[in-house]
Amino acid sequence: MKTTVIAPSNIALVKYWGRRNDELVLPYNGSISMTLDKIFTRTTVEFSRYYKGDMIVINGKVAKGDSLNRALNFIDLIRKFSGIDIPVKMVSENNFPTAAGLASSASGFAALAFACSRALGLNLNFRQLSILARRSGSGSAARSVLGGFVEWYKGKRKDGLDSYADQIVDENYWKEFRVVAAVLSKSEKKISSATGMMYSVNTSPFYRSWVESSEDDLKKIRKSIIEKDFETLGERAEHNCLKLHSVMLSTIPSLIYWESETLDIIRDVKEWRSEGLRCYFTIDAGPNVMVMCLKKDVKEVEKRLKEKESVKNIIVTKPGRGAYLSDKHLF
Ligand code: PMV
Repeated sequence: MKTTVIAPSNIALVKYWGRRNDELVLPYNGSISMTLDKIFTRTTVEFSRYYKGDMIVINGKVAKGDSLNRALNFIDLIRKFSGIDIPVKMVSENNFPTAAGLASSASGFAALAFACSRALGLNLNFRQLSILARRSGSGSAARSVLGGFVEWYKGKRKDGLDSYADQIVDENYWKEFRVVAAVLSKSEKKISSATGMMYSVNTSPFYRSWVESSEDDLKKIRKSIIEKDFETLGERAEHNCLKLHSVMLSTIPSLIYWESETLDIIRDVKEWRSEGLRCYFTIDAGPNVMVMCLKKDVKEVEKRLKEKESVKNIIVTKPGRGAYLSDKHLF
C-alpha cells in the first residue's frame, strides 16, 4: 500500500555528539530538542512485486552515491524486520536546503522509518518508531517522530531498547517559544555528523567532559522547559552549543562547521541581548544560526537578521507536531 508520512525537523537544545555503539546508533549522552513546525520532509513509499527494482527519488532527483546507500541500507533493515523482501519506490521532498545544518537527515529518516514500517504492516508505537528511526544512522531522527519538546534518552542497555525519544511537553505547552533559522549557506557540509562525531570521540581531549557535563545541561533544560523559564533555557542551550563546538574544534582533524558570518551573528546576538532584546543562539554541524526568542520579540529579531547581507533566508518556527500520516502522495 502506498504510504506517505510528513516528519518535522528538530533543533537540539542539548546536542547529541558521539556514539557508544555504531551499529545500533547508541549515544554517549542524552539530548533534548524542539520539533520545528515549518521545516519538514514528505516521503511516499510503496512496496510492490511489480517494480523491477528499488527506485529512490530525493528532491526531484534519482538518488545516487551516499544518499542512495543510506536510504537503501535503512530500507533493507526494515525489510528484514518485517520479513518482507519486495522492491520499493520511494519519493521524498524536503521543504528546506539539504545538509546545511537544518537537520535534513532527522526529518528524512523519521519520515522513511514511519512510512516504511506502516507500508510493510508493522504497527509500531512512537517509542518503537524512534528506536527504528535511530537505526537509520541519523540519531537525531529518533527525536523527530515526536512533537513539542523531546528528550532522547541515552539508555544503558546493550541492545539499545532503553534509548528512545520521549515527549517532555507537547507542541501546545509553550506556544510563545520561537526559533528563527538564519540560513547563511546552502552548501552541503564537508564532513558528515556521523564521521565528525566518530573523530571527536577518538581524538578530542574535551570529549569526556562533554559527556559528563551534558547530564547537568539535560537537567537544567528539562526544568526550564517545564517552568517556561526562557532565560535559563537560552543560557544553557547557548553554553551547550559552544561546548559542542569546542569539542569539534579540538577534534583531529579539526571540525570547523562555522563560516565567518556565523561568528558575526553570534556576536550580534550577544550584543542585541546586552541592549535588552531577549534572544539566544544555537548552531548544529553547519554554518546556520538558530536564534531562540519569544513571540513578542520575533519581529525585532527577524528585522535585525534581515538587515544582514550574509543571511540568505529566514524561517520562523515554533514548537511543531510530530510525524504523521498524510494522504497527499508524491506519486
Ligand atoms: O543525527 P545526526 O547524525 O545527523 O547528528 C546530529 C548532530 C547535531 O545536529 C549536531 C546535534 C543534534 O543533537 O541534533
